[in-house]
Amino acid sequence: MNDPFIVALDFSSSEEVRTFLQPFSHTSLFVKVGMELYYQEGPSILYMLKEKNHRIFLDLKLHDIPNTVKQAMKGLARLGVDLVNVHAAGGTVMMEAALEGLEAGTPSGARRPHCVAVTQLTSTSEQMLCDELWIGRPMEETVLHYASLSKQSGLDGVVCSAKEVPLIRKHCGEAFLTVTPGIRFADDEKNDQVRVVTPYEAKKLGASYIVIGRSITRAANPSAAYERLQREWNGEETV
Ligand code: C5P
Repeated sequence: MNDPFIVALDFSSSEEVRTFLQPFSHTSLFVKVGMELYYQEGPSILYMLKEKNHRIFLDLKLHDIPNTVKQAMKGLARLGVDLVNVHAAGGTVMMEAALEGLEAGTPSGARRPHCVAVTQLTSTSEQMLCDELWIGRPMEETVLHYASLSKQSGLDGVVCSAKEVPLIRKHCGEAFLTVTPGIRFADDEKNDQVRVVTPYEAKKLGASYIVIGRSITRAANPSAAYERLQREWNGEETV
């Protein structure tokens, strides 16, 4: 099954992951391993997920000097993940270096992992952009600028809010991937996210992939929540 849903495995141990995945034992998911899990379990968690036929987005958001990012990406490509990311704020030279590293590390005959750049975190508000990051431009303009730099650097797409997808598609083209976190069912808590949309809205806005964490992982019945996600995406249920 190739659903455009990436389930964020924000757990701190492989045991918790195994428990969460039990109801999905016959489903091949696209899962996201972020800092919380990877820094505890390391590559072994990736091997476990691959063995169960899940596709993997390794969400480590690299942001460092170009050579460090290049060498780190070389290693990540060897792990056989499907998607990795960097912060666009690292600049075009760093993003180009990330791709060089991925190409160098991809085993022959394998496909290079896709690489996307975080434009602005979906937990960042326009006020934070101005008061804390000292970026005195509107959020949309800033995100579009970072997306254009990512495209110019050869990246496959960006991580952004679904609200920004139409503008990014218009400027960066249909083939440019948009991976959108900040997804909540209409009756969910926002938690720490600021710029949130429902799965149905994300689909209408044209997101390539939606990243969904707590709405599934903390649901009383995760597989029922995943089925609700499929229904909402297909327009069969919109609230
Ligand atoms: O639980 P929730 O659905 O908010 O999880 C969203 C996931 O997406 C988290 O793992 C978070 O780290 C990640 N993410 C994000 N905003 C970004 C990039 C990644 O929320 N811009």
